Amino acid sequence: MPLPDYLSQTMSFLLEQGLPEEPEAAVILGSGLGEFAETISHSTRITYDDIPYFPATSIEGHSGELIFGEISGKQVMAFSGRFHHYEGHNFEMTALPVYLAKSAGSKKLIISNAVGGINTRYCVGDLMFIDSVMRLNHGSSPFHSKPFRYNLEVYARKAGELAAEIGLKAQCGSYMFAKGPNYETKAEIRAFRIMGADAVGMSTVPELIEASRLNMKTVAISLITNMAAGIVRGKLDHSEVKKAADSRKEDFARLVTHLIEHL
Ligand code: HPA
Repeated sequence: MPLPDYLSQTMSFLLEQGLPEEPEAAVILGSGLGEFAETISHSTRITYDDIPYFPATSIEGHSGELIFGEISGKQVMAFSGRFHHYEGHNFEMTALPVYLAKSAGSKKLIISNAVGGINTRYCVGDLMFIDSVMRLNHGSSPFHSKPFRYNLEVYARKAGELAAEIGLKAQCGSYMFAKGPNYETKAEIRAFRIMGADAVGMSTVPELIEASRLNMKTVAISLITNMAAGIVRGKLDHSEVKKAADSRKEDFARLVTHLIEHL
């Protein structure tokens, strides 16, 4: 079974609402990066609460939204708000946006997230294309015994070239999946660093596993919103995520638009 059955009802509802068929790209917007949706023209917004089979989210302040419309004359769909495993969703549910993007026939998938930087050459505000993932920390769910067919490196490299074309410097690196919801301990980050992780976050890996299984052209962009525990002095503070995201939101929007056009 390539896709969960219940999706056909969700998809019929969304098509009735005007969801484009075979959009150029689907974009999943990570913490603090939701403002990208403001750049979508002729847009329709549907709150997750109103979409059949969408689970309730515990996102502060609002329930998340699916937005569709146009970027540079191309049809796109964007998920503002995602489902995290640490909120109590099973791993399949955390990949729901990927299943919908595939069902809609999206040609590209652009996943974004906020991460803590582990690589000491990285700085807060850096963008990183994920070229490999580490999933040592996910418990024993059968979901993770699914094979991971890597196509990330190819697209990460291509995305790096496209970023350079518009004058943006981006890293390419490996993403360590952490279960959360709390930030990691300094000792965990020390271990992750020795293992070769460049950044750590609490999402994206289930989405990438499914995107690779479904053979989707996918690029994953991480924004370093803070240095991970113990990498630099000082306490971690969740307000850093918003601050870093705000400082790069224009570049992020330019980058995603360029990827939609040229990936
Ligand atoms: N750890 C895990 N997830 C994160 C972090 C972090 O330091 N920063 C943003 N998301």
